Amino acid sequence: MKVIVTGGCGYIGSHTMVDLIQNGFEVISVDSLINSNEDVLVGIEKITGQKVKNYQIDLSKADSWRLIEKSESGIVGIIHFAALKAVGESVKKPLAYYENNVGALMQVLEWMNYSNIPNLIFSSSCTVYGESSDLPVVESAEFRPTASPYGRTKQICEWLIQDFFKTSGKKAISLRYFNPAGAHDSILIGEAASNIALNLVPVITETAIGKRKSMTVYGSDYNTKDGTCIRDYIHVMDLAEAHTSALQYLLSTKQELPDDAFNLGMGKGLSVLEIIKAFEKVSGLKFNYELGPRRPGDIPAIFADSTKAKRLLNWAPNRTVDDILRTAWEWENVRN
Ligand code: NAD
Ligand code: WQD
Repeated sequence: MKVIVTGGCGYIGSHTMVDLIQNGFEVISVDSLINSNEDVLVGIEKITGQKVKNYQIDLSKADSWRLIEKSESGIVGIIHFAALKAVGESVKKPLAYYENNVGALMQVLEWMNYSNIPNLIFSSSCTVYGESSDLPVVESAEFRPTASPYGRTKQICEWLIQDFFKTSGKKAISLRYFNPAGAHDSILIGEAASNIALNLVPVITETAIGKRKSMTVYGSDYNTKDGTCIRDYIHVMDLAEAHTSALQYLLSTKQELPDDAFNLGMGKGLSVLEIIKAFEKVSGLKFNYELGPRRPGDIPAIFADSTKAKRLLNWAPNRTVDDILRTAWEWENVRN
């Protein structure tokens, strides 16, 4: 069964392609390479024994999907990862984010209509909840204001999906990721963004290996267990497996609603300092950091209730936070 993976050369897309292949799907990547490169396809081939083709296409450009060969017929679904994701950059370049993230989804929906593709899985984010007052957060929680244009593009994309699928006769799932991190166990693929890393785990590993002189913990005066922010870190391969489960669920036609949304997290809130301590344990290193001011836009705490994904998608995370940090650290070591 043939599946299109947009953003397939990126971090979560590449790990998901491995899991899809290992579950019998044929995958085709569509990635403009704006934040990735095709080297990752070599790693995927080493892991799975399968060559994956990437179409280097900017999906936000009108009708760009028409460049995909007509022979790619019989597509059972699109998993749409392609998006820009740097929260801070989106504040400076809102138009680029709306054009790329909302524009690419609109093109994907046009393509689904034109080519009669029945299923969509969309990469959403916990950022759609804004600062939720009830933790752990459940999928029915309202969308609150989010601090960045990036976050708003995810909210708008989910609303667009609701409107489109109401009448299209097709099915969609939005997967709301919490904080993805870690690398494939083989350490043949991992996070290899072209843009500078800003998320906590790569900042830690880059600091530990000496790419950065030091790192700052953003804020130690929050009303949390140790004053630093609480997040729900989830292994990228657990996320990858959730996409395969979601696709299998749609293909089984068990989903009655035209579209639905699922949280993907471990359900465990960990503070920045707890992550640093866990990294010290896993790496055996004494880690240097400084306590600094809060980062604008950060919320104090968020973590997931993922029981809906367990119940309906038959998915549960299998890996621990130590697995996240160990694979992230091993990946940092092999890519240098
Ligand atoms: P990534 O940047 O590694 O991967 C995205 C890929 O999409 C890149 O390879 C990029 O080149 C490609 N791309 C971007 N715009 C494109 C376009 N217009 N046409 C074709 N290709 C395009 O990011 P990721 O971490 O793998 O994230 C994947 C998805 O998950 C994104 O939608 C992101 O917003 C979402 N998400 C990520 C996180 C996270 O922390 N990594 C959390 C929640 C949601
Ligand atoms: C985690 C914690 C920081 C770097 C972002 C997006 C969200 C989603 C996931 C896409 C926070 C602290 C970080 C550093 C630090 N992405 N930190 N020093 O902000 O929770 O979520 O990625 O959808 O939308 O907003 O992730 O990894 O940046 O930060 O102290 O150098 O680590 O303040 O508390 P975040 P993050």
